[in-house]
Amino acid sequence: MSVSFDRVSTIYDATRGLPPEVSEQVTDCILRLTAATPKTHFFEPGIGTGRIALPLVQRGYAYTGIDISDEMMDVLRRKLEGVPHQLTLIKGDATALPFDDRTFDVALTVHLLHLVANWQNVLSEIRRVLKPEGIFLYVHGRGNDAKPGDFDFNQPQHEFKQRWDEILADHGVQLKDYGATEADVLEDLAQQGATVETIVAAEWRIEQTIGELLHRYQNRMYSSSWQIPNDIFAAAIQTLTAWCEQHYPSLDLDVSHNARFKLAIARQWSR
Ligand SMILES: C[S@@+](CC[C@H](N)C(=O)[O-])C[C@H]1O[C@@H](n2cnc3c(N)ncnc32)[C@H](O)[C@@H]1O
Repeated sequence: MSVSFDRVSTIYDATRGLPPEVSEQVTDCILRLTAATPKTHFFEPGIGTGRIALPLVQRGYAYTGIDISDEMMDVLRRKLEGVPHQLTLIKGDATALPFDDRTFDVALTVHLLHLVANWQNVLSEIRRVLKPEGIFLYVHGRGNDAKPGDFDFNQPQHEFKQRWDEILADHGVQLKDYGATEADVLEDLAQQGATVETIVAAEWRIEQTIGELLHRYQNRMYSSSWQIPNDIFAAAIQTLTAWCEQHYPSLDLDVSHNARFKLAIARQWSR
């Protein structure tokens, strides 16, 4: 089972986009870590709207992306209309890649493996299509597990999420991960002999009010809510809205929080 992002393709960039200076930092970091040359060929399963790919494509690198959502890739195609580029986009599933062994120099997955039930197949396919000295960059991305004291912990937001889980539990729903946890992936890579280093490529602040967060939940902008049956979602979101209106002094309450782009780099994995 996979989770297509068709339904959020038109709002993905507005809700998940990186600020321009962060995008620049991430791009520079990727190029530095991979010691990219003009011959480096990048590959990204789950490329989406090109949040990570676009700046690399604009700098002239050869880049191949695959995604199960044509709608997401259409957004990227539109950004490159009239611009010369070396981007190849293919509609397909990351668990069965239509490429020969040892094709790419660098593979990246950003916010993908938590969505794919058979994520191990994605990893084995990436390993197959990477060249022997190829590099795999992995960004997990789900930031919902922050605990008090963590860099990105935010008390009102944490409370909000806890309340949502309780409301769903009252309806007999427990949100499940679709795919891997970050620890699953790092363990798998290590077991397969990869040398893995984790770094923070960028840190920034996300400005948000509780009302804006609620609006995102009401509009099912996050993939975790797509598993909730529609009738239960309708009832549950009404309860959450009423709770927010009573619980918080104002929906303008500031719940701005820190974010970081954490990136794991796996080497010596595909030899
Ligand atoms: C959260 S988005 C991330 C997009 C991009 N990597 C980024 O960081 O902005 C996840 C993307 O993976 C795609 N996807 C999910 N499962 C997939 C699969 N099995 N094969 C290929 N793409 C998949 C979704 O359609 C979506 O475009």
